[in-house]
Amino acid sequence: MEGRSIGTERGRWVPESPAWWQRGVIYQIYPWSFADASGDGVGDLRGIRDHVDYLAWLGVDAVWLSPIFPSPGVDLGYDVSDYRDVDPRFGSLRDLDDLVAALHAVDVRLILDLVPNHTSDRHPWFEQSRRDRTNPRHDWYVWRDPRPDGAAPNNWESYFGGSAWTFLDPPGRWYLHSFDPGQPDLNWDNPGVRDAIRDVMRFWLDRGVDGFRIDVIWLLGKDPELRDNPPNQGWREGLPDYLRLRRAYSEDGPRAHDHAQFLRSVVDEYPDRVMIGEVVLPPERAVAYYGTDLLEAHLPHNFALTEVRPGDALDLVVADWTAEGIRAIVEHYEAVMPEGAWPNWLLGDHDFPRVASRLGPERARVAQMLLLTLRGTPTCYYGDELGLVDAPPGTRGAVTDPQAATGEERDRLVARTPMPWTTGPNGGFSAVEPWYPIASDDQALTVERQRADPGSLLHLFRALIRLRRERPALAVGAYRSLLAPEDVLSFERWHPDVAVHVHLNLGPSPRQIDLAGGRVVLSTAGPTAPAPKVTLGGYEGVVVDVSASE
Ligand code: GLC
Repeated sequence: MEGRSIGTERGRWVPESPAWWQRGVIYQIYPWSFADASGDGVGDLRGIRDHVDYLAWLGVDAVWLSPIFPSPGVDLGYDVSDYRDVDPRFGSLRDLDDLVAALHAVDVRLILDLVPNHTSDRHPWFEQSRRDRTNPRHDWYVWRDPRPDGAAPNNWESYFGGSAWTFLDPPGRWYLHSFDPGQPDLNWDNPGVRDAIRDVMRFWLDRGVDGFRIDVIWLLGKDPELRDNPPNQGWREGLPDYLRLRRAYSEDGPRAHDHAQFLRSVVDEYPDRVMIGEVVLPPERAVAYYGTDLLEAHLPHNFALTEVRPGDALDLVVADWTAEGIRAIVEHYEAVMPEGAWPNWLLGDHDFPRVASRLGPERARVAQMLLLTLRGTPTCYYGDELGLVDAPPGTRGAVTDPQAATGEERDRLVARTPMPWTTGPNGGFSAVEPWYPIASDDQALTVERQRADPGSLLHLFRALIRLRRERPALAVGAYRSLLAPEDVLSFERWHPDVAVHVHLNLGPSPRQIDLAGGRVVLSTAGPTAPAPKVTLGGYEGVVVDVSASE
């Protein structure tokens, strides 16, 4: 093996003065499940504040918090009934201010989850909108008259199953909901809606939050004529019914980009803030949300390492976790990236099965090394730093996932379980029974045990973050693939000062690697791994310092 390029070229752009959201690591917290300070079994803002020392110890640079706004909870907070307050189950505005201050004091940013595509049906805007068609707020949502036979305006389907339309009388019309009927879609073609969301963003930015993750940003652009979605030609018996149609007109239309630009322009009114976009599309379409002249999301989320069912694909596109598969994913993503755009990676979020459940405990370690060494901003889902697993299928909690109610899609709550802090009662998450059971009774998966064990995944995760901080090559350097033996993914991260090689054995058998005269500085096998070494154990990964000169 030689250190020469076999794919992407090395001379890629290295940002000279990278922004915090380029150099940093983002950590997603699901507020229901991080820590319960109030003692009601549900996580809350004070609980998060009580663990700010943990976040600082980990070394993450920003927290992305799933929605904390008042919500009836039909979709666990993704159905917002008031954009300018905190849901009492999570605390108060005061608690949010305290959390921002506590995070900023240790140099950690806070990113809120903004849901502009839809509100709750209990939002006052919708309550006015539904009254009658002459109400000034009527057009804030997507209403249509019934067809002559009384049927829904078109064939669009909800992500949570069934028609995307519900009839209400008054006003004697159908309204659109891309998700649950309790989540009516806002009409983004109405300037009043745009202005109202702009004001909501300013409200939070003025309070000092550092940016937003924009929920389902690619759904903001619908076909203005609301044409029927076409049939999916390849649909066959055995596939879920909701795949019978291609979502060609109900999402990812050109106006989504106008709206994304508009949202970005609001973020840009404030210095040093970030806009992340949720775009569950294949990479070549997702990167369109960087925008022409990079004027949309700073980071359109890249789901290529997870499993994604893009709008019109028939089969789940599951990341192929072989060396060849991952290299192809990385090179494809790098190749479709617009010039000057900044990449990002994640292994999952609150909508996906946990990475340790998908890959198994051994590969969970090498997966974290991949996430934290690829070029681009990594987003880590809380608990993955412990190798936390999904709760067993069929686990029931105090609330249910509307997506699972379709019977066709998985229950997402199994990956949103309470953080296991200690080996004590309720995992130290809460003084009372949590809203949803702890995923596993394996005490090795607690923060307490892993903090005490220098060989734990938690320590590896932290060491990787520290390495990124110490080496600009890892944080912001260019990427190029290196030739590697079978099962091994090898790449270089290059920076004018120093370069780093990463070798990840994604197979079970030992493999020889070429250190290119460099020195192993970290191994997934733990602090006691012998170094320097030329043989990688099964599923072992290493980071190697090499000279940058060539
Ligand atoms: C996004 C969220 C998901 C939610 C949906 C509707 O995909 O990540 O959890 O159900 O939007 O808001």
